[in-house]
Amino acid sequence: MAKCRISQRLERVESFHVMSLMAEAKKLEAQGHSVIHMEMGEPDFSTPAPIVAAGVAALQAGITHYTPTLGLPALREAIADHYMREYQVAVEPEQIIITPGSALALQLVLSLMVSDKDHVAMADPTYPSTHNLVRLLGGTVLHIPVNEDSAWQLNLDLLVQHWHESINAVLIASPSNPTGTIIADEQLQKIADFCADKSVFLLVDEIYHGLVYSRAPSSAVGMNENTFVINSFSKFYGMTGWRVGWIVAPKQYLSEINKLAQHTFLAAPTLGQYAALAAFQDDTRKILIERREEFRQRRDYLVGALESIGFGIRVQPEGAFYIYADCSAFCEDSYKFSCKVLREKHVAFTPGIDFGNVGAKQHVRFAYTTNLENLKIGIKRLASLIN
Ligand SMILES: Cc1ncc(COP(=O)(O)O)c(C=O)c1O
Repeated sequence: MAKCRISQRLERVESFHVMSLMAEAKKLEAQGHSVIHMEMGEPDFSTPAPIVAAGVAALQAGITHYTPTLGLPALREAIADHYMREYQVAVEPEQIIITPGSALALQLVLSLMVSDKDHVAMADPTYPSTHNLVRLLGGTVLHIPVNEDSAWQLNLDLLVQHWHESINAVLIASPSNPTGTIIADEQLQKIADFCADKSVFLLVDEIYHGLVYSRAPSSAVGMNENTFVINSFSKFYGMTGWRVGWIVAPKQYLSEINKLAQHTFLAAPTLGQYAALAAFQDDTRKILIERREEFRQRRDYLVGALESIGFGIRVQPEGAFYIYADCSAFCEDSYKFSCKVLREKHVAFTPGIDFGNVGAKQHVRFAYTTNLENLKIGIKRLASLIN
């Protein structure tokens, strides 16, 4: 049967290139090969036991119905407390909106910000869902090229250089996916002030905030009345599959957010929200800190090992679990290089073309979401190909 006409907006949305590599990796594994996975953007650790126990208890107590649309009140309160404890910032629980992962938080907030002729400014490279969502909503993405000189982040000078009047929102992700770098606190504040001055939205993706290894960055929460922050229990809290994220929204937009949430997802998963209540407990925190330490050790090993075999890493990745490495010493096309390494050496990582255009063919993203032993095997295999 002939295929029906699909939305024209969807035609502007691209798939992840790494998906074809992942399919290839699966085939290799089915043939009995061991593949070293450094392409996965999720922790290899499973959810900490106290969180799992809270989820199981909720299920056993028969808590299986919808929660209120904006989230479980106790969880909204716990997250508001978290901002006071971690950042000394006062947030009202009503400003916290629980979403099915931060993926839906992004969609909700961008739906609020983007009309047909609006432009959204963001760094290139960046997490690809953000530019694809802007396009899906009928907006236009203004990619601002960044590189190691600004630690792969936007700064005020870059924003001013590229500024034009159609921009209605500025998006920052810190720590960044794919580079693991963090925006300097003072630049974040300057950009927030600039956005306030221009009366445009600022959206800051802080989903990797718990996973930082050298300094604790400030949160953009409360920087001004037009700044939205999104975060998630997925990465630091190890809850990717439970699908719980959140928005910290300025009070003046709560009724619009409520309307959007009612019509897009009705409520975040009840099970995940009850489980997430245990995420801020002391016993959970202890586990999370130990895991963070392990991620730090992996990062330290992998940065040094990649450099020693010829990859270029000019800026130290300070957070998340990603390293964005220059592979131009070995190839002209990072996608072809990723395919070759996977086919010949059974090591998987993500080509730069998944994250934008700037330096994309010269970079690949390594995720240290597998244990040290596997990372060492991966490096040995890579070295044997490169040498
Ligand atoms: C920068 C960034 N934002 C948002 C997300 C969405 O994550 P989740 O929906 O699991 O919270 C991801 C996932 O990889 C990400 O890397």
